[in-house]
Amino acid sequence: MSIRPARMEDAAALAAIYAPAVLHGTASFEVEAPSAADMATRLMQVKSHGWPWLVHVTMGQVDGYAYASQFRDRAAYRHCGECSVYVAPEAQRTGIGQALLMAVVSVARTAGFRQLVAVIGDSGNGNSIGLHTACGFERVGLLKDVGEKFGRPLDIVMMQRSLV
Ligand SMILES: CC(C)(COP(=O)(O)OP(=O)(O)OC[C@H]1O[C@@H](n2cnc3c(N)ncnc32)[C@H](O)[C@@H]1OP(=O)(O)O)[C@@H](O)C(=O)NCCC(=O)NCCS
Repeated sequence: MSIRPARMEDAAALAAIYAPAVLHGTASFEVEAPSAADMATRLMQVKSHGWPWLVHVTMGQVDGYAYASQFRDRAAYRHCGECSVYVAPEAQRTGIGQALLMAVVSVARTAGFRQLVAVIGDSGNGNSIGLHTACGFERVGLLKDVGEKFGRPLDIVMMQRSLV
């Protein structure tokens, strides 16, 4: 079991991990699963800014990833990161999400972020809310019914962790 920076050749694995969350879940508000090429572009953008994108590897297989990028584009947000974490369905609830998120918290500080925000799709997403709570995030807000997926209105839960 190890965590390392993501590499461009991980793009297909990243796409495969993310696709079930897009197609069958409410954590992500995307509705079409990005291709490996799309994930490669996203990875390149994150890396080009010096922001962290980490993968978890079990027996040579990438089974989870987490990254942080600037929360919003405008310059005054430059010290505020937004983090995301996804674990392959068959590998969930084995500690991988927590290991990845804590590693991203640590590297995000080095990358210059002073605050980390998680924008969690679906106030019923106990897995993600539980994980972020376990990693020292606290709930700071709720936006009601701002999304809709599978014919259901969806909230977002905002959670935040200070890095200073
Ligand atoms: C959310 C997600 C990343 C969690 O990853 P994971 O590897 O399954 O989580 P872990 O096994 O590391 O759990 C770590 C801790 O988080 C908390 N946690 C995880 N799932 C939980 C749940 N269903 N209810 C309450 N707490 C939970 C627990 O404190 C857990 O520690 P414990 O197992 O010792 O009790 C994973 O479920 C996932 O990829 N879900 C789909 C996509 C998603 O929601 N991503 C988050 C987008 S913001």
